[in-house]
Amino acid sequence: MITSDTNRHPFLAGLSKHRGVPPTVMVIFGASGDLTKRKLVPAIYNLALDNLLPADFHLIGYGRSPMEDRAFQQLTVDAIEEFSRRPLDPEIWRIKDQAFYFSGGYGSVDAFKRLYERIKAVEQGLGRDVQLIFYISTPPTVFGDIIHALGESGMAHHNRDKGSLLSKVVIEKPFGRDLESAQELNRVIAGQFTEQQVYRIDHYLGKETVQDLLVQRFANAIFEPIWNREYVDHVQITVAESLGVGSRGGYYDESGALRDMIQNHTMQLLALTAMEPPVSLDPESIRDEKVKVLKAIQPLNLKAEYGDVIRARYGEGLINGEGVPGYMQEQGIPEDSTTETYAALRLFINNWRWKGVPFYMRSGKRLARRVSEIVVQFKRPPGILFSEGDRFNVAPNSMVLRIQPDEGVTVVINSKIPGLETRTQPVKMDFGYKTTFGSNTPEAYERLILDSMIGDSTLFIRGDETEASWRLITPILKHWEACQDTGLEDYVAGSWGPVAADRMLWEHQHEWRRSGS
Ligand code: BG6
Repeated sequence: MITSDTNRHPFLAGLSKHRGVPPTVMVIFGASGDLTKRKLVPAIYNLALDNLLPADFHLIGYGRSPMEDRAFQQLTVDAIEEFSRRPLDPEIWRIKDQAFYFSGGYGSVDAFKRLYERIKAVEQGLGRDVQLIFYISTPPTVFGDIIHALGESGMAHHNRDKGSLLSKVVIEKPFGRDLESAQELNRVIAGQFTEQQVYRIDHYLGKETVQDLLVQRFANAIFEPIWNREYVDHVQITVAESLGVGSRGGYYDESGALRDMIQNHTMQLLALTAMEPPVSLDPESIRDEKVKVLKAIQPLNLKAEYGDVIRARYGEGLINGEGVPGYMQEQGIPEDSTTETYAALRLFINNWRWKGVPFYMRSGKRLARRVSEIVVQFKRPPGILFSEGDRFNVAPNSMVLRIQPDEGVTVVINSKIPGLETRTQPVKMDFGYKTTFGSNTPEAYERLILDSMIGDSTLFIRGDETEASWRLITPILKHWEACQDTGLEDYVAGSWGPVAADRMLWEHQHEWRRSGS
């Protein structure tokens, strides 16, 4: 989070125009990849439009295959034209004129040393210390090689003697495939960088509404007193997508919904919903509280019957009235695939605040619509006054934090239907982001890239945090591997997922909210 405390971040002092960002060289590894075009370059461009980049900002693309500087510069222009939320202003994007492309192996210390020479020449030309940001957006198989070569070439330690952190590494997901590989990657990173230099991305944390979760909880006095086991019946977290795996079948089949979405994005939503108030807004205080929640989650019951985990895969169906293929017919999916495209979990947090309150979470592809939301469902009011007959429809109160796409907050309360007799009906109190604040909010990657430049790691995942989450997820993965494809349910594309996930809630007298309604 950007803070006005200029002592907290060395870079903020006296540099308010660019919110304290020193001259910056950003190297993107995986420069010709999809993420660079769709998200990274448009985000950098939008920061430039808002005058949030330093006056001296240099972009370097790094990749294995050769490319002319000119072609890379044009790639950035095309990326902005196609994917930016605001149109290209060529004047602003003159930044591209000094961008260059460097090709070499990802683990090649020689190539990295040559790159470093060029960067030092840029620094000399400026006559000032620059900070280096290494954005790793490659396939995960080369994460370790890149980190190692950054260390060996000296770039990881750039200007370390100057006493400030002038070299940072931003790492895209997936951060490991299980606990062991995440721990190994953390070890490799710790061999070359200090934790303060490391920015592990979970782009959900860059979303406005995800940041708003902390504001809703801790800037309002009315919710916090009832945010606990005394008043909350259960919590539901839904991250649903209507898209299928598209052209990412190769990657996705190695991953599946549990690794791709639950381990990171939905776990982060859970941590922010359930954490204790941090002592301050500084990065470590917030991340300490998130880690505590993750560590307090009790191991899941993995039994096939009455268990806490459901997994499923979509078959063919209809999305917005159009026929779509099933997962097994998607491009690049092996015939013997047993990968899940949907997962639902029932979790309990063993601490004073939440003991006994179920947290349900679900995420899947090809569901009825794209919607992410958190539902906090409160206990029923005592049925003393308004309980008899069908005149009263006294529903439990709930608070729905709508993450996307219709961002906002809804509180469901009971109200009297106007008329001469007393009848009740649940009604909504609604706050919509777009109606209140307009619709042109920054994209997650704008926030995250800016934060990495100013040195604020609040919205990034700390090493122990990723391990805490994997510690919970890995036994599920191992269990699935051990019992092959048993337990893999089917659901129709365009539905709300498998019946088994409904049943998991019915068994406990709960029901999934009709998300997005
Ligand atoms: C990514 C997953 O992390 O998040 C994708 O790898 C998924 O499979 C995407 O589609 C969803 O992000 P968003 O911002 O569109 O909700």
